[in-house]
Amino acid sequence: MPDNVSHAIADLLLAWYDVNARTLPWRAPPGTPPLDPYRVWLSEVMLQQTQVAAVIPYFETFTTRWPDFASLAAADDAEVMSAWAGLGYYARARNLLAAARAVAVEHSGRLPEDEAELRKLPGFGAYTAAAVAAIAFGQRAVVVDGNVERVVTRLFAVADPLPGAKPQVRVLTDSITPAMRAGDFAQAMMDLGATICTPRNPKCLLCPLAAACAARRGGTPEAFPVKTKKAARPVRYGTFFWLEHAGSVLLVRRPDKGLLGGMRALPTGPWTDRPPGLRDAPVVAEWTLRNAPIRHVFTHFELNGVLATATLARHIGAVEGEWWPIARLNEAGLPRLFAKAVEVMESKA
Ligand code: ADE
Ligand code: SF4
Repeated sequence: MPDNVSHAIADLLLAWYDVNARTLPWRAPPGTPPLDPYRVWLSEVMLQQTQVAAVIPYFETFTTRWPDFASLAAADDAEVMSAWAGLGYYARARNLLAAARAVAVEHSGRLPEDEAELRKLPGFGAYTAAAVAAIAFGQRAVVVDGNVERVVTRLFAVADPLPGAKPQVRVLTDSITPAMRAGDFAQAMMDLGATICTPRNPKCLLCPLAAACAARRGGTPEAFPVKTKKAARPVRYGTFFWLEHAGSVLLVRRPDKGLLGGMRALPTGPWTDRPPGLRDAPVVAEWTLRNAPIRHVFTHFELNGVLATATLARHIGAVEGEWWPIARLNEAGLPRLFAKAVEVMESKA
């Protein structure tokens, strides 16, 4: 694309952003110097795979409890995992802690400003490194998230399907990224994708880029991005164990590695392609299987679970885990999946 056209796109978008930028707690107003890199980084980690509205209360909690790298680096792992509960994709929280500690120990408490240096920190993929370099440090970096992919594949009517077309989308995004205000440009693309160039019914009549947009010219903006047909998610089955004794329920901590790693949880059996029944129950007891299904969609499979309940009349010897008062279960920081199992318990279904 000729240089003057790519400049025109950035100029149009930035002029739109100057007037229409969303006000967000981690964001500097358009055209002003960046905010604290800690806040930019924390918000970018939280915003991966998660909507802005869901992130805001977590962002407020984290920045109040742990206002900088030093305090987060010194935080107790279990407390951070509990505070993250409900946001999902828990590897992000484990990497968050690892990165805060690396910044505290190896970089004297300050994030490196360079994209390649950022890439070396835990949890910094291509997106996060570029977003932080651009938004926190004003560096020119090519920032591509799902919103940007949608806007760019529409602007250029990219015919090849994602994810195969990712390299092409990166080159096209690079071609319209300005040398100045790269952070505002990235956030403007995200805001345009979130408010105007939405997955369904894009508001092309309100779009500052309409005159330059190939998909709009072609009349079918919703046809982009073209996507490779996904295989259906496999279903797995599992059992959740609710073991009660004297007003408390048995909770365990899931192993650090693997799904929901490091999170507090109800004990479960294996997650397999057949209902496992009472396999791997935490104790031998008179278990009752509830009927109500517990369904949860993960990235790579869908879980179809049931709840098994039992009450211990007498205290028994050592079981692995902690007895948690049922009246305070909302403070346990259970991931959404286990909260659903608790709801089944409470509904008596
Ligand atoms: N999604 C990811 N990062 C974002 C940001 N900085 N502003 C708005 N939406 C975002
Ligand atoms: Fe998206 Fe429509 Fe704007 Fe093209 S004109 S970028 S399809 S909102």
